[in-house]
Amino acid sequence: MIAGDGIGVEVMREATALIELVASRRGLDLSLWQLDLGAERYLRDGVTMPPEVFEEIKATCGAVLLGALGDPRVPSNQHAIDILFGFRFGLELYANIRPVRCLDDRLSPLKHHGAAKVNFTVFRENTEGVYVNVGGQVRRNTPDEIAINEDINTRRGVERVIRAAFEHARRTGAKRVHMADKSNAMRHAHELWQRVFKLVAAEYPGIEPVHHYVDAMCLYMVQDPSQYEVIVTNNLFGDIVTDLGAALQGGLGMAGSANVHPGRKLALFEPVHGSAPPLAGRDLANPFASALTVGMMLTHLGYEGLEAVIEEAVRGCIVAMECTRDVGGALGTRAAGEALRRRVAAAL
Ligand code: NAD
Ligand code: IPM
Ligand code: MN
Repeated sequence: MIAGDGIGVEVMREATALIELVASRRGLDLSLWQLDLGAERYLRDGVTMPPEVFEEIKATCGAVLLGALGDPRVPSNQHAIDILFGFRFGLELYANIRPVRCLDDRLSPLKHHGAAKVNFTVFRENTEGVYVNVGGQVRRNTPDEIAINEDINTRRGVERVIRAAFEHARRTGAKRVHMADKSNAMRHAHELWQRVFKLVAAEYPGIEPVHHYVDAMCLYMVQDPSQYEVIVTNNLFGDIVTDLGAALQGGLGMAGSANVHPGRKLALFEPVHGSAPPLAGRDLANPFASALTVGMMLTHLGYEGLEAVIEEAVRGCIVAMECTRDVGGALGTRAAGEALRRRVAAAL
């Protein structure tokens, strides 16, 4: 576990207590290795992600749980890039799976659409796109300055994440997979997405492939989110549409995620939210996004049934208003975490 920065520390404290509760009740053979990495460490001794620690994680761990990384004292964001992208790229965790599920009508910001209308999963490509940081700056700080970030899309990278989305659709009985791109403007890179989407879709005859330009998808996600079951898109668009998705769930305090290489064991789990500096250290952060993320992690580790128990406990807390202010309650982070654990304990 890397708690990281800002509210990451507070939500991971609750996540730790939740894991310990579940592990002791169910006799799970789990041990947590807490790593002192993040902005504090970087500012202290310049260390971001030590290669020997990375190797030991690969050799010994089943999952990495991350709070959040990002600190105003590190404007370069170097530590976050080394750690977060270190895992995503270094472990080739090419599918960033972000479920968008609204657990209660009260959390839906849409007047005409209750919780039942918001239930889909975004597969965000997680190793390519503009995130690889190919590019550069020339004539810096002059009127002739040029700044370039290339959008890298490989046939292999596009194909594998699209296939992961269709496999998920087949496993969960989804009838449709939507792919979002901007092929009307980005005619080289995103034409590849168009073509590969059709090719992969042909291997899944029972599943309808639907294309939406990403701008229109943002419109439809608000106007009628019920049409979406599985969405696949590139790294940058996936980042953006999942914050919009989080809004449909009741905010970033309710959105969990998994970064996986399907078929491989070691994966990275993190809430969708960041370190929220204005909330940090004030017992205001919602710990439920991390709790839902812990649920995804337990499923990945092979502990069936616990994810549903945690999700139901979160729903119970939301319905009973045992939650933080961002989702309408009056509890602090710790009290909301305790309320959740009471419900989980009662169900186990
Ligand atoms: P943010 O996700 O930290 O916050 C966005 C908004 O959501 C804020 O209004 C915040 O108060 C609210 N929010 C987020 N999590 C919440 C929670 N658990 N409970 C209640 N409210 C919550 O995004 P930002 O402000 O754009 O970024 C802050 C820092 O976090 C930046 O340094 C950014 O790079 C970093 N970041 C890191 C990750 C990550 O480590 N995975 C993800 C996103 C952003
Ligand atoms: C996320 C975050 C990261 C991303 C940032 C911190 C680089 O926003 O995980 O959604 O863009 O991938
Ligand atoms: Mn993001």
